[in-house]
Amino acid sequence: MSGRSWRLLDILENTSRFFASKGLENARLQAELLLAAVLGVKRLDLYLQFERPLHSSEVDRYREYVRQRLQRVPVQYITGVAAFRQLELTVTPAVLIPRPETEVLVDVALELLPESGRVLDLCCGSGAVALSLAQEAAAAEVVAADVSAAALEVAKANGQRCGLAERVEWHCGDLFAPFCGTEPFDLIAANPPYVRHDDLAQLAPEVRDYEPHLALDGGEDGLAYYRRIAQEAADFIRPGGYLLLEVGDGQGAAVEDLLAQSERLTEVQIRPDLNKIPRVVVARAATQTS
Ligand SMILES: C[S@@+](CC[C@H](N)C(=O)[O-])C[C@H]1O[C@@H](n2cnc3c(N)ncnc32)[C@H](O)[C@@H]1O
Repeated sequence: MSGRSWRLLDILENTSRFFASKGLENARLQAELLLAAVLGVKRLDLYLQFERPLHSSEVDRYREYVRQRLQRVPVQYITGVAAFRQLELTVTPAVLIPRPETEVLVDVALELLPESGRVLDLCCGSGAVALSLAQEAAAAEVVAADVSAAALEVAKANGQRCGLAERVEWHCGDLFAPFCGTEPFDLIAANPPYVRHDDLAQLAPEVRDYEPHLALDGGEDGLAYYRRIAQEAADFIRPGGYLLLEVGDGQGAAVEDLLAQSERLTEVQIRPDLNKIPRVVVARAATQTS
């Protein structure tokens, strides 16, 4: 790739063919995302500069990105950024790359959260959910927590990056431990680890080899975190407030059952994602009369 002068369109087409020959999906899109990151432009702006000759330092950097991608490093870890709703977030291998499905968790939270409500993003990772809520629910009091100190560093940096540093209170600890004795929440939203332990080895290499297993491993049946949250959440939600749990494919009914078994949770229902797959299980903390 180096050693000759490259026109932008030629290097893109060449790389797309190369990625496709190696079995990478969306080869052209990935080639474009990596090149846009090298050139510091938006992906669609590449289309306005197809004739642009690339500097040898740009070609060398692109070649390094392509090499990493062939080792199945996710594009977002190579470029260091991931898009989520209206935000561009920093991502490192300390945090899960936020997924488009998780945007539904934010949609449901925005629908159910009272205007100046107090909301907790439990298992916050990169801070994608908490920061979106801070941005899109301007009067909300947003709190976020994760057990990983390294993930929280990334989340806090994202708060700075998005101009929302003052809007989110960050805590490090095991699930609800940081909130014993604190004011209850109007809504708790969580996207906990939910992959069955034995399925981890079968995940795509991008996930299995690069994303943090602490963010993925949901125990023997994938439901370990849901079980704990179902038992503990009602202590931290005001009566009538909401618990929202993102679930993996095929987990909706099992998580619905877990929440329905709690005498302190009520009105359990499932919300689908844009592909009509059950994605968010919703429950309310019982009031004394319910
Ligand atoms: C599936 S990721 C979700 C990250 C982020 N909310 C998102 O949707 O992109 C799960 C997160 O749970 C965190 N986690 C794992 N065990 C935890 C625990 N016991 N208490 C709190 N957070 C935990 C992981 O560090 C990881 O950041």
